[in-house]
Amino acid sequence: MLLTLADYEVAANDALDSAIASFLADGPGSSRAVHRNRDAFQRILINPRRFVDVGRVSTTTTVLGREVSCPVLIAPTGLQQLAHPDGELATARAAARVGTVAPAAALATYPVERIVEESRGAPVWFQLYDYGRKQVDALLARAEAAHCSAICVTVDVPRRARMREHDRRNGFRPTSRVPLAHFDGSAPPEVRPVLLPTLERICATTSLPVVVKGVLRTEDAHLAVGAGAAGIIVSNHGGRESGSAPAAIDALPEIVDAVGGRAEVFLDGGVRTGDDVVKALALGARAVLIGRPSWWGLAVAGEDGVADVLSILREELVETLAHAGCADVADLDRGFVRTEGPQ
Ligand SMILES: Cc1cc2nc3c(=O)[nH]c(=O)nc-3n(C[C@H](O)[C@H](O)[C@H](O)COP(=O)(O)O)c2cc1C
Repeated sequence: MLLTLADYEVAANDALDSAIASFLADGPGSSRAVHRNRDAFQRILINPRRFVDVGRVSTTTTVLGREVSCPVLIAPTGLQQLAHPDGELATARAAARVGTVAPAAALATYPVERIVEESRGAPVWFQLYDYGRKQVDALLARAEAAHCSAICVTVDVPRRARMREHDRRNGFRPTSRVPLAHFDGSAPPEVRPVLLPTLERICATTSLPVVVKGVLRTEDAHLAVGAGAAGIIVSNHGGRESGSAPAAIDALPEIVDAVGGRAEVFLDGGVRTGDDVVKALALGARAVLIGRPSWWGLAVAGEDGVADVLSILREELVETLAHAGCADVADLDRGFVRTEGPQ
């Protein structure tokens, strides 16, 4: 029975080729930052309120001005046909069914136009890296023409990653297995570090709100907001870039304070339960994003699997909110969390 995201993880590992399962799960440095994201959530407790009517609990909110049924979005991930032949199209359909944001990554295996079509009016964020001015401008224009609702600039990949150790051990080259729809099926151009003038130029060029993904330090949050970002995703890329990166949830509160309401702050990395969603929102996130869990759903049952993963999280969120004595996600604040032991 698939009752939790942990059940989906087990089932996905059975369904996927072992090299793909390892590509999905692991990170550099013995996956320490992958585990750190999860462990950090366990150290945070939910501090419940009493005398609150939780007969009705609302999970509806807005992100960048668009209504979503639940503050759980799908994180941008490329190469989704590695998990299921319908890849990004299935993910977009599932997000639309549940009423949340679907991503279209530059490294998607289906083109952004088709992803937007399958999302049936639900917001689609187009994610890109810095591939150089010409490519970036072409991708921005394409995303706008396709009616994406936001641009997500990922700033935590300063160069094409050396093949990760687990992939090297498995002799696994992910980009050689599936088509790259935005790069004529061929290898993508070299990734460069996103520098401030580039971010400023992207913010000034596009008519869409820009979300900066991969911020872990307050000064970078200030710089991103100063450059014109409408949103910041606090993220260590799911622990896939550095084994020594801090847990995203640990970095969240100081970044929320630094941003001070000038932009919406999101979090990804290790979100697996409704409790995790409540903790992140209580610490100031507008919404969270899930990366690997969407692949688990895809691998197990395509569109239905991703929709079920999102629905499980939403049901758990309702349950957690009720037990926390909070009738609306908008009412979550830091009073709802504490760390273990006497304060
Ligand atoms: C298989 C895979 C592919 C990913 N591809 C991208 C990508 O193309 N662009 C990007 O910004 N982040 C990418 N990410 C990172 C996710 O957007 C997200 O930050 C991360 O998965 C969140 O952590 P979680 O998997 O613990 O939920 C990828 C993650 C995974 C697992």
